[in-house]
Amino acid sequence: MNFYDSDRMKDLLKPHGYQLDDNEDDADLIVLNTCHIREKAVEKTYSELGRIRDKINIRKEKTGKKSIVAVAGCVAQAEGKEIMKRSPWVDIVVGPQSYQNLPELISKVDPIKKNKNINIDFPTIPKFDHLKTNIEERGRSAFLTIQEGCDKFCTFCVVPYTRGSEYSRPLSSIMDEARKLIDVGVREITLLGQNVNAWNSNGLDNKTWGLGKLIDELAKIKELKFIRYTTSHPLDMDIELIKSHRDNKKLMPYLHLPAQSGSDYVLKMMNRKHTAKEYLKIIETVRYYNPKIAISGDFIVGFPGETDKDHNSTLSLIKQVNYAQAYSFKYSKRPGTPGSVFLNQVSEDTKNYRLFEVQELLRSQQLSFNKKTINSNMEVLVLKKGKKKNQYLGRSPFNQSVYFSHKNENLIGSIINLNITEAFQNSLTGNIVFNFQ
Ligand code: 5AD
Ligand code: SF4
Repeated sequence: MNFYDSDRMKDLLKPHGYQLDDNEDDADLIVLNTCHIREKAVEKTYSELGRIRDKINIRKEKTGKKSIVAVAGCVAQAEGKEIMKRSPWVDIVVGPQSYQNLPELISKVDPIKKNKNINIDFPTIPKFDHLKTNIEERGRSAFLTIQEGCDKFCTFCVVPYTRGSEYSRPLSSIMDEARKLIDVGVREITLLGQNVNAWNSNGLDNKTWGLGKLIDELAKIKELKFIRYTTSHPLDMDIELIKSHRDNKKLMPYLHLPAQSGSDYVLKMMNRKHTAKEYLKIIETVRYYNPKIAISGDFIVGFPGETDKDHNSTLSLIKQVNYAQAYSFKYSKRPGTPGSVFLNQVSEDTKNYRLFEVQELLRSQQLSFNKKTINSNMEVLVLKKGKKKNQYLGRSPFNQSVYFSHKNENLIGSIINLNITEAFQNSLTGNIVFNFQ
């Protein structure tokens, strides 16, 4: 979602004379868009800010020009005042729900008086109403935020505090943005939300629509070829959305559905509101409607109170699901969340060991999923050039990176049919069968 927000900030600042520069050394404005989900991400913010301080000091010495430094995103939301105190070279702190005010905040920065501007409101008029700016170049594959915030309050998670309560963007606003993306050449859209499958809005028939209906509506846009969505919560996985995975050919056969743990005790302590068996039942239903679908997920190891037995239940759930790919993390205490004050915090050594076991298992499942695609043909959206000569990188319907070679024409942005020849841990290689476009 931060990638999406960064793109929107770029669009928003363009009419104010700013354009993106690959190099920070001579930038008039540096925006650091931050993540607060785990402690490591927060540490990165402060180390990046140190690096930025050195850059702007060098620039000032060389040219006499002072750069404006803005910190955006969830660290800004959660630690705005702390950032200003620890990093006095920061001029602006702006939360994820108020970055539409960036141009105004920038205009108020007075380099002489060194005044500071903080805006970490949750405005009553949703920010999307203020973001009706033009959309600039996005390549072929773009994100589109349709839902933000969360009311689930998992006990480990900061999102409900940093991104606010659940909000679904209205259908018309999403369709407008999708058309703008298509107009700048986008062919694949990934719908985003912290709880994307909780999205609902008044539909064209005046009835409440869920994500499945939205995807069907988007699929009517001829030039849009591939639709994806992330991230989902098991409780919001309704049958309409599941059936779209069978019926809607533009919806990619990939589902990211975090389980977090396979232990009912830990799931209860996490406030996930479902059991391991209920999660497995959802996966079974999804596979009934689309047997080939790639299943992905998130896991947290070392949640407070997690025992060896709980950890084994997680390994057992992973074995039962057989993931195509999944992310796993060591539990990280987030200030202000209930989990941070739970007793029985798990030691770092135990977390390390459990993470290793989970990741080893997931790695082997990913490799065998990738290997199963050898000799099959698949439609691949070509995203960019690879590092080697004549090499291209594309994305498979199952969200795998696929490398292939081709001489002469530039294939970036095309949809091609590849025959998969080799499979590795994190990628596939293939040969062109037939050029569709
Ligand atoms: N510690 C570790 N992992 C976390 N996640 C969210 N909060 C924490 C935390 N406090 C993970 C979850 C979530 C993903 C985005 O990040 O697995 O699904
Ligand atoms: Fe965080 Fe997702 Fe739980 Fe919401 S549902 S609190 S975003 S982990």
